Amino acid sequence: MGRYPIIPWPRAIDARDGAFALGAGLQIALVDGGNSDVRRLGDLLARYLRELAGINAEIGDGGAIRMGLRSDAPAGTESYALDVATERIGLTARDPRGLFYGIQTLRQLVAASPKAVPAVRIEDAPRFPYRGLHLDVGRHFFPVEFIKRYIDLLATFKLNTFHWHLTEDQGWRLEIKRYPKLTETGAWRKETIVGHARRGPKGYDGTRHGGFYTQDQARDVVAYAKERGVTVLPEIEMPGHSLAALAAYPEFANVPGPFEVRTTWGISDEVFSPSEATFTFLENVLREVMDIFPSEYIHIGGDEAPKKRWKESPDAQAIIKKEKLADEDGLQSWFIRRIERFLNANGRRVIGWDEILEGGLAPNATVMSWRGTKGGIAAAKQGHDVVMAPQEDLYFDHYQADPEHEPLAIGGMTPIEDTYRYEPIAAELTADEAKHVLGPQACMWTEYMPTTDQVEYMAYPRVLALAEIAWSPREARDWDSFQKRLPAALALLDRLGVKYRKPS
Ligand code: ACM
Repeated sequence: MGRYPIIPWPRAIDARDGAFALGAGLQIALVDGGNSDVRRLGDLLARYLRELAGINAEIGDGGAIRMGLRSDAPAGTESYALDVATERIGLTARDPRGLFYGIQTLRQLVAASPKAVPAVRIEDAPRFPYRGLHLDVGRHFFPVEFIKRYIDLLATFKLNTFHWHLTEDQGWRLEIKRYPKLTETGAWRKETIVGHARRGPKGYDGTRHGGFYTQDQARDVVAYAKERGVTVLPEIEMPGHSLAALAAYPEFANVPGPFEVRTTWGISDEVFSPSEATFTFLENVLREVMDIFPSEYIHIGGDEAPKKRWKESPDAQAIIKKEKLADEDGLQSWFIRRIERFLNANGRRVIGWDEILEGGLAPNATVMSWRGTKGGIAAAKQGHDVVMAPQEDLYFDHYQADPEHEPLAIGGMTPIEDTYRYEPIAAELTADEAKHVLGPQACMWTEYMPTTDQVEYMAYPRVLALAEIAWSPREARDWDSFQKRLPAALALLDRLGVKYRKPS
């Protein structure tokens, strides 16, 4: 194991004696080199060899490294076989995504041992089809260059979904051409609370904060992610966490307004009204979102939507009566069902936070379980697909060590070992129910992460533990082994300039 410091650990690995010497004159032969993905991935491998081993490998027929797509490679779009022998290296997959992962594995071996890659035979495939990392760009805006770096890093560790949390009370971050005020007004807040919002706030900073992604930038991010096997899952929050949108378009609120983009953290009472005008607005927004993001899923939020305004609103109450709904939870369920009908009719699936269970789940919805695992378990038992993101183990905005010695965070305590020990398939699930668990996701809420350095500090190295629970076979999970492999991964992060937290 010491010779093969790979994270996440592969499905099947056969240690071999000897090593492949990396030196001058090395060539990379491409099987199916006419395929533009294969060519691009050959160039990527050459770049890694240059960066890590200082050699200029050329693409050429006589290559001691042979890589390409083959129908006899391990089954599955993300699978690959990597064969390192003393005289040659072979990498095969059925799909460019598998090749990309094989290259990442080889990259880790070269990084740890840049002169002589230890011989090995690896056949690898992921445990879960969904392996997600989220980023909240609503609470703090991060430039598009950082979004790409974040995606590149998560893909390095074989995660395949970037959940882009694009709208919040504190900022709307995506250009919507039909509603320009969403970004003219909604992307900017006049200032930001200083200190912890619930424990000793220290006033406001008096500094305008904001920003947004143009549609061209978002498309560029989607294409960049795709080259790394990553799906971008966009989230447009409804009915709650929508104050920035309501500051721009108060006509979609339940009370007259005006509203300001929120300057503190926590939950706002203002939510979208369940009016026809609101649905027209949201459908128009979602049309533009679908045009940018080709993902099977659209995330519609659904979390933390207080029912106070709907309780007080004669219009909302009239809908409850007319539609024979039980209460305001029923109204939220009706709201989400309507949006689901619209998205399904456009060929997309809905995913939402576990609050969408309240008042009854929309018929085809997938649940993202964050308030522990109960929501995910309940949804899987109802035959719905689920993504497991329980805050106790997978919220990386939590402290990762003693708060006394850590930068201010929202709270909680999720050391990397807790993440590592989290098992996405709850013991309560039968084998059939367990099939509905698509995989785990970690969340990065950024109230207390004002800088990109702080984002990296909170994400890494915990993302490495997430990667292993998402990719590696359950039987292979071994904390001692992981700890032995961690220093090599951290050395790679050092080379990449990642501002991770050094384990104590
Ligand atoms: C959430 O943390 N409100 C999904």
